[in-house]
Amino acid sequence: MIRPLKKAVLPVAGLGTRFLPATKAMPKEMLPVVDKPLIQYAIDEAREAGIEEFCLVTGRGKDSLIDYFDIAFELEATLKERGKKSALEAIQQSSVRAGSLVAVRQQEPLGLGHAIWCARSFIGNDPFAILLPDDVVKSGRSCVAQLVDAYNQTGGNVVAVTEVPHEHTNRYGILDTGSDDGKLVEVKGLVEKPDPKDAPSNLSIIGRYVMMPEIMEHLSKLEKGAGGEVQLTDAMAKMIGHVPFHGLRYEGTRFDCGDKAGFLEAQIALSIDRPDLGGAVKEFLKKYVNQI
Ligand code: G1P
Repeated sequence: MIRPLKKAVLPVAGLGTRFLPATKAMPKEMLPVVDKPLIQYAIDEAREAGIEEFCLVTGRGKDSLIDYFDIAFELEATLKERGKKSALEAIQQSSVRAGSLVAVRQQEPLGLGHAIWCARSFIGNDPFAILLPDDVVKSGRSCVAQLVDAYNQTGGNVVAVTEVPHEHTNRYGILDTGSDDGKLVEVKGLVEKPDPKDAPSNLSIIGRYVMMPEIMEHLSKLEKGAGGEVQLTDAMAKMIGHVPFHGLRYEGTRFDCGDKAGFLEAQIALSIDRPDLGGAVKEFLKKYVNQI
């Protein structure tokens, strides 16, 4: 029987060194793309997939991420008094249901696999989604919802995948592929950040996963992999053959907002078709294109 998926883990303990000094005194997950912080994109995406419980894996200096999901009573009262309806709606949507968000600490930056393992008590014996807030996905149906749709058919682990230029395989988890119907790909093997010459394909994992709780047993060994870190990819690889395991070519576009160029592209992509901003964005883009 396929168990319903209601939980999500969001690792947010990273130091954000690529965005210093902006992230010196604020978490990188609070950086806004247009008018919403990265963390909110991830939570909204998960909610659209029917996920109801969230675990943030945080670290030192990340408390504002928890505060962000509180109800801002004073601000709400002021906005109400001033008749600022759309601003009021925006902040009301940004809080979560009481008791639905918890945080655990990852005291040391030992890798993504270690961060996920820190959420083991929250997960217990339930399947769960993982969302890496650095990746923002622009899509019709939310990317995690697409993964959950696939999971409801196949069961087991499902990871969102996309083709990357061959020379970029050393930036991602890469699939060794079995049968492939153009959308769902059977996962035969997984390698974390392989050198292009050793990469089994150019199909890369993006920061969206549906995981079976058995991953925690593998992670608990805390074995170090690529870069000397406890890698989620290595623990997932150990599950191949034990649970169904698929890659899903999701519909949508991923922006790597952990990277400055990706972050800037996301600002354009997520504002260009907005009724309130699109016109202005197109105008200034024309100006800059003319300067090239
Ligand atoms: C992590 C994962 C990698 C995945 C990537 C997606 O890498 O380890 O397998 O492809 O996220 O964004 P990181 O970006 O943390 O180096």
